[in-house]
Amino acid sequence: MNFETNKDVLDWYERQERSLTDEFIGAIPWNEVKNHPLDDKFIPVLLYMRDVETLTDMYHRELLRTPTGKDPYISKFMERWGVEEITHGEVLNRFLNEAGYETDDDWQNQVRRDVSTSYNATAYLMMLLTKMIGKKFTATHMTFGAIHEMEAALGYRRLMKLADHPVLTHIINGIIREESVHAQFYRSVARLELEKNEFSQKMARWIIERFWAPVGQGSLAKSRTEYAISVLFAEDEAIDGLEKTVTQRVRQLPGFDGITKITDVISDMAGHRPMEAEAA
Ligand SMILES: [Fe+2]
Ligand SMILES: [Fe+2]
Repeated sequence: MNFETNKDVLDWYERQERSLTDEFIGAIPWNEVKNHPLDDKFIPVLLYMRDVETLTDMYHRELLRTPTGKDPYISKFMERWGVEEITHGEVLNRFLNEAGYETDDDWQNQVRRDVSTSYNATAYLMMLLTKMIGKKFTATHMTFGAIHEMEAALGYRRLMKLADHPVLTHIINGIIREESVHAQFYRSVARLELEKNEFSQKMARWIIERFWAPVGQGSLAKSRTEYAISVLFAEDEAIDGLEKTVTQRVRQLPGFDGITKITDVISDMAGHRPMEAEAA
């Protein structure tokens, strides 16, 4: 798709229908969840994904205070995007409950309260940079968003395959359809913003090379990120998928040719040997 303005991207987004409608959620065979085995090792991964989804609105509120959030098309997108991510968290929580893993009625507030202090430090740094750089920082925000959405979609695809639970597969397929739409939005706006000037490209690349980390790291305990990544990306084929569906797409963005950061960070966290060592 070739968009010329952020408005074009928003118009496209608004034409996409939600996958996780009330009808979709109501028709999920919840009472069958218990009939299929679910390996315990996936519980912390599901909780991690649930919490990442839930914390989206915190990030959303922060972004609204920046020039990026003042872009009328991006802020319009973010309103619906925030709602969609919250639904993802809620559906995952219900799945956990149906699978026999009880959660507190107040779980959403608990997740928000437990945000790690390192998150506040990073958020503060981002806020300072945003204030200094202003509108040109939008390209960085959008590139970050694009990478997070693509990584999340792949993480879900991995979980679906490894857990091999029919009801979870059905739910995740719905989530992935929405994540793919989000990724397309962010990627398209990132491209438009990056194309505007070389400064935006240099800035975005510099920030991502230094600060990019898997989605959720920084707001949730690092050990939880490491656990989720090590379960989902232990196999070589997962790293191949990451390279093809995330890193190679990031390389197509203006100013990002040759980037290896995403594959490097995740393969390292998942315990793979560095690529050079394998080649040698
Ligand atoms: Fe999501
Ligand atoms: Fe998303």
